[in-house]
Amino acid sequence: MTDITAPSPGNETARLRLRSDRATTPISPTLYGLFLEDINFGCDGGLSANLVNNHSFEGVYLTNGTLPYAPLDLIPDGARERFAAMAPEDLPLQPTTPAGRRLDRLRHWSFVGGRLESSRHSAATPGASFARLHVDDEQGTLENQGYPGGFPGMAFDAERPMLLSLLIRTDEFRGTLEARLVDADGAVLACEAVQQDARGWQQCQVRFAPAATTLGSLQIVATGVGTVDIDEVRLVHENHWGAGDPRWSQGLLRRDLVEALGALAPRFLRFPGGCIVEGCGDGSHYDWKKTVGPLLTRRAEYNLWGQSRTDGDYSQSNQIGFYEYFLLCEDLGMAPIPVVWAGDSCQTRMDEHLPVDSAEFAAVVQDTLDLIEWATGDPTTSHWAALRAAAGHPEPFPLHHLGIGNENFGPEYLAHFERIKHAVDRAHPGLTVIVNGGVIRPGENADPAWAIWGEDEGVLIDEHFYNSPAWLFNATKRYDTYPRGGARLFLGEYAAYLGYDLGDRHPAVPESMLQPEPNTWLSALAEAAFLTGVERNADVVAFSCYAPLLNLVGHGQWPHCLIDFSPSRVVRTANYLVQQLFATRIGEYVVPVDGELPANVFASASLGDGVLHLKLVTIGAAPVALTLAIDQVQDGAVVATVIGGALDAVNRLAFEGEPRMEVEPREVGLEVRGGSVELILDPTSVLALSFAISANEDD
Ligand code: AHR
Repeated sequence: MTDITAPSPGNETARLRLRSDRATTPISPTLYGLFLEDINFGCDGGLSANLVNNHSFEGVYLTNGTLPYAPLDLIPDGARERFAAMAPEDLPLQPTTPAGRRLDRLRHWSFVGGRLESSRHSAATPGASFARLHVDDEQGTLENQGYPGGFPGMAFDAERPMLLSLLIRTDEFRGTLEARLVDADGAVLACEAVQQDARGWQQCQVRFAPAATTLGSLQIVATGVGTVDIDEVRLVHENHWGAGDPRWSQGLLRRDLVEALGALAPRFLRFPGGCIVEGCGDGSHYDWKKTVGPLLTRRAEYNLWGQSRTDGDYSQSNQIGFYEYFLLCEDLGMAPIPVVWAGDSCQTRMDEHLPVDSAEFAAVVQDTLDLIEWATGDPTTSHWAALRAAAGHPEPFPLHHLGIGNENFGPEYLAHFERIKHAVDRAHPGLTVIVNGGVIRPGENADPAWAIWGEDEGVLIDEHFYNSPAWLFNATKRYDTYPRGGARLFLGEYAAYLGYDLGDRHPAVPESMLQPEPNTWLSALAEAAFLTGVERNADVVAFSCYAPLLNLVGHGQWPHCLIDFSPSRVVRTANYLVQQLFATRIGEYVVPVDGELPANVFASASLGDGVLHLKLVTIGAAPVALTLAIDQVQDGAVVATVIGGALDAVNRLAFEGEPRMEVEPREVGLEVRGGSVELILDPTSVLALSFAISANEDD
């Protein structure tokens, strides 16, 4: 067991040798990637550039909001007994999630000065429903406050013009229409006329230059008499991601969030989930086919993370669907790794499986094959590929990996996996499928999937964990003993979070840290220590991605995430800074570190393109002196990046206002002389160094 508070023994300088001449273990080029799920308003209300909540008047919500998500087997022992004695209706946590759909097509819209109703499009029109405004008092004001709803949440910026687009029909209206941006007190920040110069449905565009930087709402004001029909309302910042690019013809993305993702140097993106893949039963699993056509034809579905919100208030608009996902991958140089539904429910919530020989399951297999066609097929011969081309991407997308199911397990899932894998192998040989390998909880080891698929080098096994920092400190050698030569690991979700108080307390974690405040430096430090073990074993750990990725501060369902954002700001958490440091300084081969690492110090080194990258993590409370001898190093100045802080330091962001950064990287100058460098590691810190290496004369 590592002791985080112990000083390093003695004051001697430890000597380590970096064997750049012995760098032979290959590092997976896809080691660091991302996992995106629409949780915590990560997509709708986050990455999606459209600020309008329920933009197409088709909101679908869960009937049973407010159930917390907590798997029963995560409940600590004592508590389990207490709960066993309680009546089911008194239980604070629920093992299953009976779901129900509530169509609430006008949710998040208010209308003052008239009557608002929802109407259905005729069968000849692609949209499902629209809003009808009856203007009774000569002036009616329709308002949307954005995300998460209930108060003004749209970010307006005096430096950033905005674009509004909407469909309107004013055949039965005599009067004028204008669109306004207003602040929280109703003061008008921008006001523009909406032209209505045609009969039938017409597309209107308005450009705004807000007069102030603040949070506010969108209003559409009808002055006159009659009815106005409205649909597909989109309000975006003009410089959204994809602006002016014909490929981005459908959903649009929020630029600052995309840039924060890009700065992590991600090599792949796993999407769409997560539990979202399975939904809550009753056909609410993620259906990629609903997410790739023109926006007007995309149907909303409830978001199962609405279960943790009052009134189940979380609808998936699918404005970020598979088309936008593949484009984002293309723009940031990431390999797409889609996850498809395997015909099983989210087994944390309920345990239901389609019969493997049923027509419904045959359709699941076909959906998977159609997805591959859609992404990679020829638009002149394939219906699905033609949809891709029509959206603006005639060239195929790359697709080499496919996840089948999320956190599924047991014989029914494994039979489903085998059937889907067989169909994919036959139709698309060479595509690697990913089997679910379980959620690793304290005290547990690998899932039975390893026993079945462990020897198959054509398979990746997807393990997840959300364990305590203490668990991670003790797991830095976890992958040293994973078998080689067969399946490789896809670490598809992980973070040092849950478990502070779930029965695996580490005696050395300070008492003050037992409350699970998210995103403390302690958690990031634990992840850094763990990642040294990941890098040393990056021949068998082929992919890794943190989870969850995005969180709208104050309104998330999962408190500990990689990136916190508000309507106007993005904060790089301490955990983000660690991920960034590791992912941007990685070579192609593992460099052995000879010599004994001091207690509480973890290291990994790698070599690529003539540069040796070294990461050192110290979790002790005392500084550690080190002398590094580096084979073939060039003498001269080097700059180390150091991240450190108090264990409870957190980079905080509120819904309004500027971030408060307590953890930030800093640079320290060092000197390499005679092939060696001397340094002192700060207590509880991470240090990264990159050295230029001379080519081996034998090469
Ligand atoms: O990342 C949040 C959730 O954790 C994912 O949806 C699920 O796969 C896991 O249980």
